[in-house]
Formats: sequence, C-alpha cells, structure tokens
Amino acid sequence: MASQDVLLKVENLTTSFKTDEDQITVLDDISFNLLHGESLGIVGESGCGKSVTALSIMRLLPKPAGQVEKGFITYKGDDILTLTTKQMHTIRGKKIAMIFQEPMTALNPVHRIGKQLGEIYQIHFPDMSEEDSRTAQIDILNKVGIPAPEKRLREYPHQLSGGMRQRVMIAMALSCKPDILIADEPTTALDVTTQNQILNLMRELQREIKMSIIFITHDLGVIAEMCDRVLVMYAGKIVEQASVNELFASPRHPYTKGLLDSIPRLDTPSKSRLEVIEGLVPNLKNIPKGCRFRTRCDFEIEQCGVTDPVVEAISEDSSRTVACIRWKELSK
Ligand SMILES: Nc1ncnc2c1ncn2[C@@H]1O[C@H](COP(=O)(O)OP(=O)(O)OP(=O)(O)O)[C@@H](O)[C@H]1O
Ligand SMILES: [Mg+2]
Repeated sequence: MASQDVLLKVENLTTSFKTDEDQITVLDDISFNLLHGESLGIVGESGCGKSVTALSIMRLLPKPAGQVEKGFITYKGDDILTLTTKQMHTIRGKKIAMIFQEPMTALNPVHRIGKQLGEIYQIHFPDMSEEDSRTAQIDILNKVGIPAPEKRLREYPHQLSGGMRQRVMIAMALSCKPDILIADEPTTALDVTTQNQILNLMRELQREIKMSIIFITHDLGVIAEMCDRVLVMYAGKIVEQASVNELFASPRHPYTKGLLDSIPRLDTPSKSRLEVIEGLVPNLKNIPKGCRFRTRCDFEIEQCGVTDPVVEAISEDSSRTVACIRWKELSK
C-alpha cells in the first residue's frame, strides 16, 4: 500500500466516556487507513463503537463526557486531534463530511431547507453571492434526485418524507465536494426501495466526485454492495480487516464467520431460522480478560482468556489483519 494512497490514518485510537461513577473505554487501540477513492465499510453489532469512531474523526464527541485518550488521526498529514477549533471548522463539512444516523438531529426543524443549505455555502465560501449560492443549492438538490428543488428550498424538514430528508442530508454533506464522506447507517430507517435508490445515488456521486467513503452499517449485505474493504468491530476493537471479496470468501475471525452465517440468503428457505451468534456483547464496564469475543466463541481455549489477541497482519501488504490466536488452525 503506497503511503501516498492513504488519505486518513487512524492509529491506536482510544476513546472513552466519563460517567458519574466511572470512565468507560469504548474504543480500545484501533488502527486503520482510508485510501484515496475507496469505500471502507465498518460493520459490527450495536454498541461496538462504529458511531464513536466516526464522531472521534469528526471531533464531534459529546463534550465533556466523550474524550479521545490516546492515538492519532491524520488527514493528509495533519493530526486532526491537535488542530484548533477554527482549523477544524475548515475541514469539517468541506473536506470531511458526515451523514448522521439520525437525520432529524442533523437537520434543524425550525429552519427552511434553503436556509440550512445556504449556511453551509456561507461558512465555506464566504465570498459566494446569494444568487450563486441559490443556483448551487438547486443544483445539488437536483443531483440527489429531489424533484422541484425550488419548492423544497422553501420547505421545513417535517414537510419532507424520510427518504427526501435523507436525500437532503446527502445533499448537505456533498455540497462542498468533500474528500471523505462518513455515512453512518444512512439508509437503515428507510424502506427497501428508497434504500436502494439512496445507495445507488451514493455510488454514482462517489464516482463523480471521486471521494472516499466510510460506510457504517450492521448490514453485511449493504457492505457487499457498497464497499471495497471492511473493518469488523467487536466491543471497541477491530477484530478483522480485509477486502470485501476476501472477507466473504474466507472470513478468518470466528466473529466474522458468525456475522456471515446470520445474513439471509436467497437459498435460505423462508421459514428456516438463520444462525445467530448466541449470547450478548460484553458490557464495556466489565470486559472479560483476554479476547473479548471468547465468551460467545465456539472455539475458545484456555489461552484465549490469558491475553488480548494482537492484531496480526496476515497479507503481504499488511492490509489484511485479524485478532484471534487460533485463526491459522481454524483456517485449515
Ligand atoms: N454519549 C455517550 N455517553 C456514554 N456512553 C456512550 C455515549 N455514546 C456512546 N456510548 C457508548 O459507547 C459505545 C459505542 O457506541 P456507538 O454508538 O459507537 O455504537 P454503534 O456501534 O454505533 O452502535 P449502533 O449500531 O447501535 O449505532 C456503547 O457502549 C455506548 O453505550
Ligand atoms: Mg451507531
């Protein structure tokens, strides 16, 4: 992997939340790269740290509870974590944009769509005339497939359907042609048809703008359709990282295998039960010693409880990693 291909580098990122009683580490020493133009999926069960990873990169962790404890996040050579608030404002939205899991939290219910879109152009292109801003707003709404954009600009978020709101969110995120788009469960709340339309749209726009995407979802089917590479997270750790093809063809971590077995397939008889991974994600306040997945793993041996499995590079270019002491023997 040539270093000039790396657009965003996350190294040893450790993020915690402080509550009244204690401090909980929710991301524990995670490292990954995002390459130019690629789409990187992050998958894992609820609570594993997908959104916190995104919020750490955007420097939008809820303050003062959320805190990056350790590590580096480097965008084009700049360490994001040490930038001033002002410098961060020029990156957030313009260079790295995010579509949030809850569209209504990102849209302001009391302002018209036009005002909210206009504000983005005002912040990032202060010299743009009002007329040019309006033309750009109509352009971007057209691009994301919103009919009658002139009319929509005068409307409030509650006047739009869920699918239209999500398109507005995508329009807002793409308005400055960012280098990186972080999409956190962008289609989970939508019906299947709208979901497919939005996914197609994102793919088209990615090709056009040539941006990189971090695509967060707990749906491996969506990952297969949208992503080049994927990170599998479990309880605040990255347990496996691979290209999508490799991951589906030869998953190495028992957790990844469990996730793959739980995807409905066309050849699954409709009434048969899918495999599910039994048991619960460990409470982050009380992480078991050793491998975090071992309490649910069919392949646990005594040694799994002794130390944290290291993240091992298992491909020549180090892009494929797995954190399981038994991966080799289980692959035979
Ligand atoms: N504001 C907060 N205060 C305290 N803990 C939090 C806060 N936000 C997240 N957490 C904790 O951080 C951990 C990771 O949460 P995160 O939202 O990143 O999960 P996720 O993988 O995005 O899950 P989901 O698929 O449900 O969106 C969870 O244990 C969660 O309880
Ligand atoms: Mg989330």
